[in-house]
Amino acid sequence: MERIAQTSRARVYRGTEANLGRLARALRRGELVAVPTETVYGLAADALNPRACRAIFRAKGRPAADPLIVHIHAWGQLEELAEPNEAARILAAAFWPGPLTLVLPKRPEVPEVVTSGLPSVAIRMPAHRVFRSLLKRCGRPLAAPSANPFGYVSPTCVEHVVAGLGRRIDHILDGGPCRIGLESTIVDLRDPKHPRLLRPGAITREQIAAALGRPVAVGGGKRSGHLPQVAPGLLKRHYSPRTPVVLHDHASDSAWRKARPDEAWLLTVKPVGRALPENVFWLDTRGRLPDAARRLFAQLRALDGRGFSKIHAELVAGGGLADAINDRLRRAAARG
Ligand code: TXA
Ligand code: MG
Repeated sequence: MERIAQTSRARVYRGTEANLGRLARALRRGELVAVPTETVYGLAADALNPRACRAIFRAKGRPAADPLIVHIHAWGQLEELAEPNEAARILAAAFWPGPLTLVLPKRPEVPEVVTSGLPSVAIRMPAHRVFRSLLKRCGRPLAAPSANPFGYVSPTCVEHVVAGLGRRIDHILDGGPCRIGLESTIVDLRDPKHPRLLRPGAITREQIAAALGRPVAVGGGKRSGHLPQVAPGLLKRHYSPRTPVVLHDHASDSAWRKARPDEAWLLTVKPVGRALPENVFWLDTRGRLPDAARRLFAQLRALDGRGFSKIHAELVAGGGLADAINDRLRRAAARG
C-alpha cells in the first residue's frame, strides 16, 4: 500500500480508492498531503482552513507574502471563491481542466493567508486524474504550492517530494511522473479587457490571446497597484539548484567539448555522432519541447547532486513552450 523512505516520516500512498478516502479525510481534518498534478507535485491543504494553510508555509519555509494557488474540480467552486468574468469563462472553457491558473478578484470566504492579504485569488482546475478524484472526494478547494522547500527546484516525481519534504510532512500521494513538468501558466484576469501573463507555462501566451481574441501583456505591469513583483512570490531567484547555473544562448560544439571535467553542460538536444564527454547532458534526444520541459527539473536536480562546480545550460530556441523553459532556466541561474 505504501512505502516508507528511510530518512522520511512521510507515507507514500498509491491512488487506490481506499487511500484516496483516507487522504480526503486527512485533508478535511486540516492535515497536509503532497499531491500529483500534471504540472508539478503540490503540497495541498484545505483552502478554507487558515490553520491548515499556515502549515503549508511552515513546511516549505515559504514567506507569508507568497500567495497560494487554489485547486478546484468544478466551475461551481470557482464561483464560491472568486468573481469570474467573461474572460475567465472563455479560458476555463478552452483550457480547463489543465495547466492554467486564473487570477481573479477574491470573495471574502477565501482566507487572507491563502492570498497573502491580496484582494485577488489564483485558481486552477488541474487535469491529473488521481488529483481530481481526491479533490472530488474531499469536497473542499485545495490550496497547493509546489511541493518543494521554498526556492528549490519544483518536484516532478514522488522521489523529489520525498527528498525535499519527506521529513516535514506525513502524506504523499503517488500519481507517477508529471506529464508537463513545468508549473502552470498564470494569467491575471482582474481586468478582463487587459489580460496579463504573470508566469509562462505549457498553455502559451499565443494560445491565450487566440482564445480571448485580444493581446496578452506580459508581467504585472507598472500600474498593477498592490502587486509587488511580476506575480507576488515570483522572485527572480527561484527554482534554483545549489550549483551555480550559467546560461548560454547557444552552446557551440567546441565550448562543451573543451569543457572542464568539473563543470556540467546541459544541452537542449543530444549531440549526434562521436563519443560524448561524461559531463555533457541534454534535455531530449530529438529536441522535442514537451519532452525537454518534462525533463528539465529532474535534470537540474540530478546535476545538482553530482558535485559539479558549475552547470552550463543552453537556452531553448523558439517561442511558446520554449519561453516557459527559458523562464525557469533564467530563474535557476539568478543569484541573490
Ligand atoms: O502548476 C502549478 O501552478 C503548481 C501546481 C501544484 O498546481 N503550483 C505552483 O504553485 O506552482 P507555486 O506556489 O509554486 O506558485 C504560486 C504562484 C505564486 O508564487 C504567485 O506568483 C502566484 O502563484 N499567485 C498566487 N496567488 C496570486 C494572486 N492572488 N495574484 C497574483 N499571483 C498569484
Ligand atoms: Mg513553487
